[in-house]
Amino acid sequence: MSTQQQEPETDAEPEPESQETPTDQEMSGLSSPQQKRLQRKHEGAAERERAAAEDDLEGDTVHLKVFRFDPEVEGKQEPRFDDFHVPFERGMTVLDAVIYARDEFDSSLTFRHSCRQAICGSDAFFVNGRQRLGCKTQISELDQPVRVEPLPHQEVVKDLVVDMDHFYDQMHSVEPYFQQEDLPDGELEEQRQTRENREKVKMSTRCIWCGACMSSCNIAAGDNDYLGPAAINKAYRFAMDEREDEEIKEHRLRIVEQEHGVWRCQTQFSCTEVCPKDIPLTEHIQELKREAVKKNLKFW
Ligand code: SF4
Ligand code: FES
Repeated sequence: MSTQQQEPETDAEPEPESQETPTDQEMSGLSSPQQKRLQRKHEGAAERERAAAEDDLEGDTVHLKVFRFDPEVEGKQEPRFDDFHVPFERGMTVLDAVIYARDEFDSSLTFRHSCRQAICGSDAFFVNGRQRLGCKTQISELDQPVRVEPLPHQEVVKDLVVDMDHFYDQMHSVEPYFQQEDLPDGELEEQRQTRENREKVKMSTRCIWCGACMSSCNIAAGDNDYLGPAAINKAYRFAMDEREDEEIKEHRLRIVEQEHGVWRCQTQFSCTEVCPKDIPLTEHIQELKREAVKKNLKFW
């Protein structure tokens, strides 16, 4: 079964941080001392706001509503929401809260997690109506009850665990690795990249394969063959890298300009909005469309 319905945002102020504070991507472009001072000011304000929200929650419990589904256990095959009341602690994330619920109340509660620092990409959930990383989402920034569901538009295996096979297949279909024909002489010779080219591909290299973008995309929901924003971003990462062989670049462009590739994107920006690594996915997709046109490749 699958949680196909994307619910409306339930937080009053869904992403105050993204509205008030420059993203990592914007930060990387900050150069003047004034911009940096402004950034520090924004960060200070966001920190104070969070501290105030945490003061309010101190000593309280957090009300979690967690999606449950277990196809293998009699009596648990019907999807439902379970309520958990977890004692709040400063700095508590959604992942901390569900770990507490599992450890203290119900050891059968199932979800993936590993690094707890927004690196492994394994704990993308649908929290209060939006795709978020559990370990990067502060409880104090959310309205209660905090509703935690598996990623929409994916098959649910159990509770918060979804089947990621299709997502990984799409990622692998763009051949996400260097395939340089002529390697430089000498085994240990570096393959250097200019600073400018590194800047160009920098954001695209940050993907952690969490699947949040794919889950948020209406096009991917309606077209199972659509490559999806993450796979296209991965193709961009190599297509724009000056160290890649020209022929392979063109081969990769042909993969992304196919019927279910870049031309399916309707620039809705949902992927860009939910990406926890602030990758400008929609922008990258548009750039690959332009590249395909320049190279006179067929478009749909
Ligand atoms: S592009 Fe962003 S949202 Fe999509 S898989 Fe990568 S990190 Fe996750
Ligand atoms: S646990 Fe690794 S990204 Fe959240």
